[in-house]
Amino acid sequence: MDIQKEIAVRVSEIEAMLKQYLPQEKGYQKTVLEAMNYSILAGGKRLRPMLMIETYRLFGGTSRIVEPFAAAIEMIHTYSLVHDDLPAMDNDAYRRGKKTTHAVYGEAMGILAGDALLNYAYETASRAFSMEQDNPNLGRAFQILAEKAGVYGMVGGQTADIESEDEPEITREKLNFIYRMKTGALLEAAMKTGAVLAGASRHEQQMMEKAALEVGLAFQIQDDILDITGSFEALGKPIGSDAKNKKATYVALEGMEKAKQDAEELFLSAVDIVESFSGEKSFLPELLRYLIHREK
Ligand code: IPE
Ligand code: IPE
Ligand code: MG
Ligand code: MG
Ligand code: MG
Repeated sequence: MDIQKEIAVRVSEIEAMLKQYLPQEKGYQKTVLEAMNYSILAGGKRLRPMLMIETYRLFGGTSRIVEPFAAAIEMIHTYSLVHDDLPAMDNDAYRRGKKTTHAVYGEAMGILAGDALLNYAYETASRAFSMEQDNPNLGRAFQILAEKAGVYGMVGGQTADIESEDEPEITREKLNFIYRMKTGALLEAAMKTGAVLAGASRHEQQMMEKAALEVGLAFQIQDDILDITGSFEALGKPIGSDAKNKKATYVALEGMEKAKQDAEELFLSAVDIVESFSGEKSFLPELLRYLIHREK
């Protein structure tokens, strides 16, 4: 399997699908609509929709109901990035290789574009209800998405992340909370909703949530590593953002070598879980293995 090619095919399918759900740029709110589309279309790895769709397929899903959910999670993720980059938060000027949304449209439009994307995500996901009116999995998937994005998920993690800036003696426990919430929660939402929409059993849902938690922790550890060792060209966002903001990071707490080792172990543990459902030749474990050595 040429994994890079496989990923590229999926990214273009996801982007084609995503475009169908984006709003038209017209009316008195045209500016915010432009800012929404600007941030979404800037690029990105499209990892969350990819994980959702692949988990859905893994458990035998074949319908198009997964599409509005996949579009929605990318909208929520993108909103989280738009707000994360704001001057009041990480204050970063580049994202996905382009000027950040607030840098192009101004701070007020950055805030509003994030708000609008978040709400539009639910407007989009709810379209699944008119595709299959009697499907009980839709309500459950919607609930998971909402919960993982909110104060008991991503927003909660961002809160603790901001408050821990400059905190000299952060505990490993608190750092785990931050990572699990700010980054893990949306990855958990992606894989769990994929499983739920496909009608996976409770046990299967829980196992995929566990795998996604490990992927989330590993992914954020890598993000911190790349903030030190990566390049702007590959990442499309500034390096050194964590040091600039005096963030508590896994690398600062555990050291670079241990961080790399732990990230790899977490990924491999997630691969084991996924392979127990899929076999090793399918795409999802390959994708997770590929991520171990990601440079962007
Ligand atoms: C960036 O996420 C924010 C983190 C949770 C580390 P991604 O690295 O998935 O960003 P994009 O979507 O590819 O831009
Ligand atoms: C971001 O963590 C997690 C989000 C919920 C956006 P970071 O602040 O480290 O993400 P980057 O490095 O800006 O992408
Ligand atoms: Mg941040
Ligand atoms: Mg940031
Ligand atoms: Mg980062």
